[in-house]
Amino acid sequence: MKIVVTTSHKPGRQQVLRALEVANKLGVRYVSRRHLVQREDEAVVVVESDKISAVKDGKRFFFHPSLAVIRKSNVDSGQKDHLLEALDLKGNERVLDCTLGLGSEAILMAHFLPNGMVIGIEKSPLIKLIVEEGMKRKDKLYKWIAKAIERIKIVQADYKEFIRKSSEKFDCVYVDPMFEHPSYDSSAMNSMRPFTDNSNVSVEDIEIMKKIAKKRVVVKAKWNDSIFDRYDFDKVIGSAKSGIGYGVIKI
Ligand SMILES: C[S@@+](CC[C@H](N)C(=O)[O-])C[C@H]1O[C@@H](n2cnc3c(N)ncnc32)[C@H](O)[C@@H]1O
Repeated sequence: MKIVVTTSHKPGRQQVLRALEVANKLGVRYVSRRHLVQREDEAVVVVESDKISAVKDGKRFFFHPSLAVIRKSNVDSGQKDHLLEALDLKGNERVLDCTLGLGSEAILMAHFLPNGMVIGIEKSPLIKLIVEEGMKRKDKLYKWIAKAIERIKIVQADYKEFIRKSSEKFDCVYVDPMFEHPSYDSSAMNSMRPFTDNSNVSVEDIEIMKKIAKKRVVVKAKWNDSIFDRYDFDKVIGSAKSGIGYGVIKI
């Protein structure tokens, strides 16, 4: 997909410089807003004064930690969160999140890791940029999110390569690939969809994850995704209502 970078209308000098920097980083063209004509097959990255977003097919992708907020408030009110249950966190673990995406689950995990940290891998340079940039605007975020973000390190890489090269071990390794059978009910996910890597997690990937995990490997998928047929997990945690399962492997 073609990508161009521009600014919002009437940009300040700093915004234009930042847009040029972003275009350079992504290796794509910068177009001044006045000269922008969006083509159908193109995505437009917009550098605004306070955020970066990407527009494709009329949908705007930007960083917003709403899902983390809902899930944390559910936990605070005594409900179980299936991911946290699957990881069985004590609070001091180093978690490798192989598929950072919007960063919502990385934020949730990092909040429950006061003495640990999350290393979040994202293959798409554009998603990494938008999420990382959004996470920097701490003044716009709840305090607990800003604190959690201090314990997240983002790396742009293909996790399939990363796990095979890693000389480091992690307490937990988590992977949440794009679903084989998406439900399209999350507008945040839908707006990110044009930019995601949609590859499947393979059994071989899981075997490598087991080698670099000290405690647990957790794989998230829809109940009807093929990984639950292809791999025999120690247990699968989830709810029939959401249709989502977290496959757990205890090391
Ligand atoms: C379902 S989303 C993850 C959502 C995330 N758990 C959250 O809370 O926002 C999957 C993300 O993983 C990324 N991804 C898929 N395959 C990848 C790979 N091989 N290496 C790194 N990132 C990958 C996709 O680009 C996408 O952003």
